[in-house]
Order: sequence, then structure tokens, then C-alpha cells
Amino acid sequence: GKGGYPFYMEKEIMEQPQVIAETILPRIKDGKPDFSEEGIPDQILKDCKRICVIACGTAMHAGLVGKSLIQAMIGIHVDVVMASEFMYNDPVVNKDTLVIAISQSGETIDTLEALKFARKCGSPSISVVNVKGASIARASEYVIYTNAGPEIAVASTKAYTTQLAVLYLITARMAMARGLWEEERLLSFMNELQRVPQVMAKVLDTKEEIHRLAGVILNAQDVFMIGRGLDYSILLEGSLKLKEVSYIHSEAYASGELKHGTIALITEDTPVVAVVTQDKLKSKEISNIREVQSRGARVVLLIKENETLDEGEQWSCVYRLPKMDDPFMVMPASIVLQLIAYFVSLDKGLDVDKPRNLAKVVTVE
Ligand code: BG6
Repeated sequence: GKGGYPFYMEKEIMEQPQVIAETILPRIKDGKPDFSEEGIPDQILKDCKRICVIACGTAMHAGLVGKSLIQAMIGIHVDVVMASEFMYNDPVVNKDTLVIAISQSGETIDTLEALKFARKCGSPSISVVNVKGASIARASEYVIYTNAGPEIAVASTKAYTTQLAVLYLITARMAMARGLWEEERLLSFMNELQRVPQVMAKVLDTKEEIHRLAGVILNAQDVFMIGRGLDYSILLEGSLKLKEVSYIHSEAYASGELKHGTIALITEDTPVVAVVTQDKLKSKEISNIREVQSRGARVVLLIKENETLDEGEQWSCVYRLPKMDDPFMVMPASIVLQLIAYFVSLDKGLDVDKPRNLAKVVTVE
């Protein structure tokens, strides 16, 4: 059942601390990432010259976070390819390309076909799948299961964050396999990963505060979501979530790109959700927020607790995120974005779990 919640989506959002723990803990031995159960040899993590992530929808958005992590920490190039487009751009993959296929259902035909093609080209492959024994799991050389449990709501939430959790584990194991990090750095990264469930729980405790933030969006026609880097990656997912369950038009825009594109569309009637979680991006992001504020936009700002903000007056809608090391801030921030989408849908009286025209599993190309 729905565990006492009106919709599965809320239940599944609330389950995240638990399922993240269930996804990471079995893969940590002596404080270090461990894929011996999965039988993944370090060699394939060590030898690859680049990575190609293949996925659709939410799973592809998880891949974008993985790309940032791996490029920053391992220093190899990562492509994230929409599976449905993979074949149409003459994909260049070979034995030096590690393919990571991400899929909740493990049955998405676009992802499956792209994975099979890459394997024919000689690429080693790992899939990140939620449903045990699914086609994509069977079609890949190695599989790491997300232990999210059954996800019933069509809009994905806990599958996404468990996919992220696996990508942190892969990043850390890759650093280990390549001898890139001192022991201390590895252990502190893994500690921070293990802190994710408790930090998520803290955010979930503030559900009613997030419900009030959702009120800013409830009657909007259009919403923009802006951020840079990792903040942008999670906003792509936050924006998809809002569109999927509330039918409000929403666009995630890299904040630096806004003035090269559609800033003219931002008016007093366009709420803007801004996420600022990365120290190195903060000042640029804040100045982009000023640009939309000067066009009258009401801004919902997600920022780390203890960040100072001047001009208190202008910041009427600020949500303070519990602090983690910057690469992990996507975890608490994602929960807030999921809940915003959920509450908008709920307050509109929509069928949150079954958005019109969407299917949980898509097995046609
Ligand atoms: C879509 C679903 O059709 O497929 C999305 O509606 C999902 O929610 C996407 O993200 C990919 O699905 P999967 O199962 O491959 O992760």
C-alpha cells in the first residue's frame, strides 16, 4: 500500500533515506567502495579512456550528475547520451569506452538497443538497474542493482537518488582502482556518502516548509529553473519532475546561458527556482539571480545553510539546505525539488501517481 500517504510518489520520496542506505551499505567494506559481489574487476574501471552513459529521462539526468563527478574526480571524459538518439549520431564507442547503462525498469528498449550496439563495438559495460533480472541487466556484462524497491509512481524519485548513490560508489572505486586518492580522501568521501541518508531525513522533516515554497509555483503558467554545473544537472531533473506531475511548463536553464537565450521570457509572472550549492559557482549564480530579479521574477532560492546573503529583503523564499561537501549537495537539493513538484501536483488535485500520457516502462522505440 501507500504507507498511509495519499500517493505512492510521497511514500517513495519519504523512503529515500532507507533505500539509499540499502543501496550503499552492502557495497562498503572497511569504509571503502566494494563491488566484489557484483564481480566487477578493477581492470575495467582502470583501463577505460572514456565513459559513455546511456539512459533515458530521469536516468539520463542521473548520468549527468555522474559525468560531473567523474570528470572532476577521475579526469576522464564522460558523454551522457540520450538512448533514443544514440544510434542517429554514428556513435563512436570501442573497447576503450566503458558504457554505463542506467535504467530503473531495465526494460527501456532505447537503452537496451544502444547497450547492445556498444557491446558489439567491444565496449565493456556496467548497467545500473532497479528491477532484478531485467533485460538491460542481462544484456550488460556487469550489473549494479539500485536497491530502491518497487517504484510504483510513474514519476521517478527514489530510483533517481539511488542511481546517484551508485554513481558516487563507481567514482570512488574508480579513484581507488587508479590509485588517484590518498586513503584519507577516499575514507572521507565514503563517510560523506554514508551521511546522505541522515541528511535526507533532515530535509524530509521540513516537508511543510517545502509545501509552502511550492505555493509560489502553484498558479504559474511557466517556471524557470536556473543554476550552473551540478546545480544545473539536478534542475533538469527537478524541472522534468514538475512538468511530469503538474503539467506546468518548466524549463531548466544553465544560468549563464539565460542571457544568450530566453531571458526575455522572464517576467513578474514567471517564478524562478534557483539552486546554489557549489562554492566555486556561487558568485556567478547569485549575479544571474539578480538578472532575473530585476525583471520582476519571484525567486525560490535553495542554498546551503550558513551561506550569507545580503539584502535580506529580496530573499523572501529561501530554503536552507543542510550542509554536505559540495559534490554531495545534489542529494538534499534533489529532495526539495521532488517535493516541490509533488506538492504542486497534489494542490492542483491531479492524479500525482499517474500523469496523463506517461507510462512507467516504455518498450517501443
Ligand atoms: C520514461 C519514464 O518513459 O522512461 C521515465 O516515464 C523514466 O520516468 C524513463 O525516467 C526511463 O525509464 P527507465 O526505466 O529506463 O529508467
